[in-house]
Amino acid sequence: MELRGKLLDLISISSVFVLCSLVQSTSVSHDGRALLINGQRRLLFSGSIHYPRSTPDMWSDLIHKAKEGGLDAIETYVFWNSHEPRRREYDFEGNHDLIRFIKEIQNAGLYAILRIGPYACAEWNYGGFPAWLRQVPGLQMRTNNQPFKDDMQNFTTLIVKMVEKERLFAPQGGPVILAQIENEYGNIQWEYGDAGKQYVQWCAKMADSLNIGVPWIMCQQSDAPQPMPEDFHRELDRMVRFKAWDKPDPHRLVEDLAYSVAHFFQSNGTLINYYMYHGGTNFGRTSGGPYITTSYDYDAPLDEYGNKRQPKWGHLKVLHIVIKTMEKALTYGDRHYTNLGNGLSVTKFFGDRMTPSCFLMNENSSADANIDYEGNQYFLPAWSISILPDCKEEAYNTAKATLVNVQTSIMVKKPNAAEKEPSNLVWSWRPETLRMPLNGLGGSFTSNKLLEQISTSADQSDYMWYMTSVDIADEEKMTLHVNTTGHVLHAFVNGRRIGSQFAPNGGFRFVFEKVATMKSGKNYISLLSATVGLKNYGAHFELMPAGIVDGPVQLIREQGVLDLSSNEWSYKIGLDGWEKKLYLKNSTAYKWRYGIIQTRRPFTWYKTTFKAPLGSEPVVVDLLGMGKGEAWVNGQSLGRFWPSYIANPDGCKQVCDYRGMYKDDSCLTGCGEPSQRWYHVPRSFLKTSEPNTLVLFEEAGGDPIDVNFLTVTVGKACASVAEGKTMTLSCQGDQTISSIEFASFGDPTGTCGFFKRGSCEAKETLLAVEKVACIGQASCSIEVKEEILGKLTCNGVSYRRLAVQASC
Ligand SMILES: *[C@@H]1O[C@H](CO)[C@@H](O)[C@H](O)[C@H]1NC(C)=O
Ligand SMILES: *[C@@H]1O[C@H](CO)[C@@H](O)[C@H](O)[C@H]1NC(C)=O
Ligand SMILES: *[C@@H]1O[C@H](CO)[C@@H](O)[C@H](O)[C@H]1NC(C)=O
Ligand SMILES: *[C@@H]1O[C@H](CO)[C@@H](O)[C@H](O)[C@H]1NC(C)=O
Ligand SMILES: *[C@@H]1O[C@H](CO)[C@@H](O)[C@H](O)[C@H]1NC(C)=O
Repeated sequence: MELRGKLLDLISISSVFVLCSLVQSTSVSHDGRALLINGQRRLLFSGSIHYPRSTPDMWSDLIHKAKEGGLDAIETYVFWNSHEPRRREYDFEGNHDLIRFIKEIQNAGLYAILRIGPYACAEWNYGGFPAWLRQVPGLQMRTNNQPFKDDMQNFTTLIVKMVEKERLFAPQGGPVILAQIENEYGNIQWEYGDAGKQYVQWCAKMADSLNIGVPWIMCQQSDAPQPMPEDFHRELDRMVRFKAWDKPDPHRLVEDLAYSVAHFFQSNGTLINYYMYHGGTNFGRTSGGPYITTSYDYDAPLDEYGNKRQPKWGHLKVLHIVIKTMEKALTYGDRHYTNLGNGLSVTKFFGDRMTPSCFLMNENSSADANIDYEGNQYFLPAWSISILPDCKEEAYNTAKATLVNVQTSIMVKKPNAAEKEPSNLVWSWRPETLRMPLNGLGGSFTSNKLLEQISTSADQSDYMWYMTSVDIADEEKMTLHVNTTGHVLHAFVNGRRIGSQFAPNGGFRFVFEKVATMKSGKNYISLLSATVGLKNYGAHFELMPAGIVDGPVQLIREQGVLDLSSNEWSYKIGLDGWEKKLYLKNSTAYKWRYGIIQTRRPFTWYKTTFKAPLGSEPVVVDLLGMGKGEAWVNGQSLGRFWPSYIANPDGCKQVCDYRGMYKDDSCLTGCGEPSQRWYHVPRSFLKTSEPNTLVLFEEAGGDPIDVNFLTVTVGKACASVAEGKTMTLSCQGDQTISSIEFASFGDPTGTCGFFKRGSCEAKETLLAVEKVACIGQASCSIEVKEEILGKLTCNGVSYRRLAVQASC
């Protein structure tokens, strides 16, 4: 306050000076009921957007769409292993530019919530921990261990100082209103006993000593030393589940999501965070797991590419606006709950000098109901909540789409419209150079043990070679037996690949067995182990092993077992193609081969050039036909691909029902299909003035013949709107409405893609929608009334509406 007074004085003295230094300091605290911003209790909607899961070019658009969607704050983790890939070597460039991301939030006029952790979980590789921590002597993670606490404090302090230096904490005039230390430790603390308790106390003290001037929180920590009462702060954690290579796509219908949000505010909640608001992409080797896909779409209100997911985005926007109108009653009012029986209830917030606000709830997941309340009747679909900002008029119901009045968009992928782009790309190829490791050469050290992969390689690569040799008297067929903790094993004997296998069920221990002919004399056995994202969650998750730890590795023959586990093993981290940087556009390490390409060949590199698709719509590359590997565009990694992994065939439903408690398998699509076929190519990776380069490393054997680039846009736009309201529809980007596929004013039924005429409709509707408003337009609005859509001649239809399906 004092600071502001001084600045106001200065205005009369030097307005130029004041323009440069007029920052509004914001005070943040909490009083158990709500967060207080400048002394006022606030209702806040926050949403997670993780900066490394998109590109700096996308940030502003994502944040503005979040703001337009009614959010007050953006929340992100800080990803330690992205920022400190090697000990005391830092990276804050490109999509690791945390400060720029916070400034984008500030520029949009939103608050920021910074979950410094530095443990993140987040389905991020190794939960955000740098794997080099494993090589610090005596270090044990997330417990009362001095080496760990030293490194954690070092990184936490570094981040706090950076944010402070840029004056980004709220009291400095910045957007950061909350910070988080540790993360979800309460869920696993019991595993650590007293050391866990001491560790949590230390976290709180250490964080506190940094004096950031805004409250610290500890997610899911009920006994936090400075607790943030759980009932006012909640994460809509796991709005859905993330996607894994072996799983179909999970969805959560917005009617159920909105129900959950409304229920939270009805139960005294005041700050909610959507995990995720934009999920994005796990570029490079950042996905956790094992087995989490490159797409981190999360069925969020903004899709992986940053498009509005409709109706989810718009439906939640309406909810946010309605709840915001009741901020005073919900944060300062008294709460009165009336149970009406059979799952029905009324919750009223009221007090002096404020408009009372009501929530009517129908918890019954199968029966619709009517509620009589203070002389009015309200219809509540099963599993829905109606919101009455003045306790009289129903402004919103979580399940009444026609009341919410939001467009439904069906997204499509359109072919690359760049001029003269041939339908098939022209490829060159070359084999991965395996000669050295297949002959036991090129190792960087040896050991008489089978070593654990993460601690040995510090996760510098997915790949690690285990190489040994064995002398055999006479040629003989033997079974090579490898007991490995996964995730993928390729076995070679005397230069020939005898087999490959990956761990089922998301990456656990398995046994490989295959017959091979051993020759008389020296035989080379080379085992290539590959990881597919490191575990990120659970007590001691960091110790879950990868690779052929202790094996055993054996040769099984008729007269007994030859155990090779304590042979001399030579180790090599990574593959030759990475060392030679074959993924770079201009790599000249080797010659590539042109003409007929070899397909279905494991350990093969493919390369092609392509023109960037025209327009501004998001771009994806379709990798159907490929096996498993990694993809790069102009040297930038799109992430791992594995379209040959077919999702579990069971559990998908034709039609999803939003009603009832959300479960992981409530609403699945893509059963029995390639678990991820399309991979995001951010526009900023592409050049429009020159050809772009796509490089694929294929580990399992695939065929790039059908690989091509597409843009993602709205294909169909639908709406179903009650009489008296205005219907609006829009396409996206440069697209316009090309045809009206369905239009009926009367009592049509069904949903987008499946509308049906009812028993009654106005004759001129289609013409009116086409001519009057929509064809050729990027977006159109039309009032739903007889004067425009035509007279309804039939009687007995009480609830009249307009349903339209347009093609973009
Ligand atoms: C982190 O540790 C390094 C030494 O390893 C030290 O130079 C640096 O000052 C520390 N940084 C902070 C913020 O504590
Ligand atoms: C909600 O807040 C009111 C007012 O502070 C309090 O009386 C009531 O016990 C709270 N109810 C719940 C369910 O937390
Ligand atoms: C839901 O409503 C039906 C029909 O009124 C009733 O039989 C059932 O018991 C209700 N379920 C719950 C959980 O209230
Ligand atoms: C693989 O090794 C583990 C750990 O030593 C052991 O428990 C398991 O029985 C082994 N599996 C087989 C099939 O030998
Ligand atoms: C290839 O491109 C990179 C980055 O664009 C550059 O640093 C490097 O010098 C180039 N190498 C060659 C051989 O042209």
